[in-house]
Amino acid sequence: MIEVRELTKRYADRTVLEGVSATFSKGEVVALLGPSGGGKSTLLRCLNGLESFDSGTVRVGEHSLEPGRARTAQLWSIRRRVGFVFQQWHLFAHRTALGNVIEAPVHVKGLSMKEATERARELLAKVGMSHREGAYPSEMSGGEQQRVAIARALAMEPEVLLMDEPTSALDPERVGELVALLERLRAEGLTMVTVTHEMRFAQALASRVLVLHGGHIIEEGAPAEVLSNPRHERTRAFLGLGQAA
Ligand SMILES: Nc1ncnc2c1ncn2[C@@H]1O[C@H](COP(=O)(O)OP(=O)(O)O)[C@@H](O)[C@H]1O
Ligand SMILES: [Mg+2]
Repeated sequence: MIEVRELTKRYADRTVLEGVSATFSKGEVVALLGPSGGGKSTLLRCLNGLESFDSGTVRVGEHSLEPGRARTAQLWSIRRRVGFVFQQWHLFAHRTALGNVIEAPVHVKGLSMKEATERARELLAKVGMSHREGAYPSEMSGGEQQRVAIARALAMEPEVLLMDEPTSALDPERVGELVALLERLRAEGLTMVTVTHEMRFAQALASRVLVLHGGHIIEEGAPAEVLSNPRHERTRAFLGLGQAA
């Protein structure tokens, strides 16, 4: 589904991803973990062309991104397949919940307003936001905005959904609701890659975790294995497990 080969990304003379290779298969839910500054957000952003990179390749289905600035057509073909939910949601402030979900299907996919509206209502129902379809982002709680952002990403019918720290602005109660929603999407076969620092969240959802540190994947495996018995000292430190015996 997504294949990353030898990805290197620099900001000026600082290398923030160095030769990262990873494969995300169809239907998989992968959690990206690791200390702050390790390159998680950068990697996620490279997966749908939000960020350019210096060497390596990113392949999504039969489309690929090469180093440097991608061509617009190439970017769009990737972005239609790979949805992104930002940490701060980035909803259109001047549009209602319904308006936010309709926007891209009408303007990018060319759906009729009627068709896009029907579909948007189904998606708002799916994320539990039907009762708030007329609300503007400033009138919604963080959790509500996030659910609308998820509905908006799903409106493009992506094959993969990328999320950057989706639990970071949520109360513990809301985290449970998010997990329930994402479990339903997982059951429908949606491939997801999520950055998180919440171990319980990773444990509940992910089929695999990758640990990024200093621009390298230092560890990967099943959540139960990596989270309870990490091999790498840096992973142990990150998880607060102290030294290996
Ligand atoms: N636009 C940018 N310009 C310069 N450095 C950046 C930029 N974005 C991120 N970085 C640096 O890249 C490194 C990786 O950042 P990031 O991918 O955001 O890490 P994480 O999400 O794991 O916390 C950090 O050292 C960060 O300061
Ligand atoms: Mg980050």
